[in-house]
Amino acid sequence: MDLSTLDLPGIPKLRSGKVREVFDLGADGLLFVATDRLSAFDCILPDPIPGKGEVLTQMSAFWFAHLRARGSIADHLVTTDFARFPERLQPFAAQLAGRSMIVRRARPLPVECVVRGYLAGSGWKEYQSTGVVCGHRLPPGLQLADALPEPIFTPASKNDHGHDENIDWPAFVARLGDEAVAEKLRAASLLVYSLGAQHAAGRGIIIADTKFEFGVDEATGEILLIDEVLTPDSSRFWPANEYRPGISPPSYDKQFVRDYLETLAWDKTPPAPGLPPEIIARTAEKYRQALREISGDAAS
Ligand SMILES: Nc1ncnc2c1ncn2[C@@H]1O[C@H](COP(=O)(O)OP(=O)(O)OP(=O)(O)O)[C@@H](O)[C@H]1O
Ligand SMILES: [Mg+2]
Repeated sequence: MDLSTLDLPGIPKLRSGKVREVFDLGADGLLFVATDRLSAFDCILPDPIPGKGEVLTQMSAFWFAHLRARGSIADHLVTTDFARFPERLQPFAAQLAGRSMIVRRARPLPVECVVRGYLAGSGWKEYQSTGVVCGHRLPPGLQLADALPEPIFTPASKNDHGHDENIDWPAFVARLGDEAVAEKLRAASLLVYSLGAQHAAGRGIIIADTKFEFGVDEATGEILLIDEVLTPDSSRFWPANEYRPGISPPSYDKQFVRDYLETLAWDKTPPAPGLPPEIIARTAEKYRQALREISGDAAS
């Protein structure tokens, strides 16, 4: 079934993000549900992408297991196994199973931890005008989509309203109010990116860049990797076999929709335009393909 909005009678909703609905389960933590909504240019599109929420949840679950096996950092996942969800959620199997996870409640830190291994998007734009990307001076002569000498950490502020803005290291530290926490987030981000990029490379996918969120478990003070991890929504995935520096890599997942929207006269403020059925179907298939390739799960 496809799902674009969700209410669960009797279960309080904590927040409704661009893609996720988060419910408060009290002592059981949070219920974190990925809908089929697609956001592009920070606007929610009117058409859901069937099956997208399942793909995002399954892919994050794959990565949390992969990262745990390598001991990288504590994360918020409790379970994605619907049979183990609290009893009061069992009547909602049709809406929840496969697309939701129980997570530990955290206080999200007000930063977006971006890691870039390749030159694309706003990084490419900044490099072209200044030779610098978020305070990192890069070698001259790089082309669009070139690999960077090493992955760089380029954080952004997490704004409640409007677009996130790139910030430099002092501003990152100031937002967190603690240099040791800032260092920990940077180190964890670079580590998780490199573990993810390494696995994906073996599956024929380049992870050009990605964004992580971290939160504090207020009961224990522990810093946790939260939200979604290394999905096509939080990252740029490029098929390695079509990769060529100098050209905009072929669209993958969300990039496909973005490319379509770029052909329109739309000014990127709400309301966002509808998508043709063919773009919806091809995008849904791209998401499924990404999950199959990353997780090696033939059933998806
Ligand atoms: N373990 C957690 N505890 C509390 N909040 C969390 C946790 N994990 C993720 N979140 C928050 O839940 C929200 C997920 O919803 P979604 O991804 O749809 O939002 P978003 O549109 O990306 O975020 P925002 O609207 O804040 O920019 C994010 O705001 C994220 O910070
Ligand atoms: Mg999000």
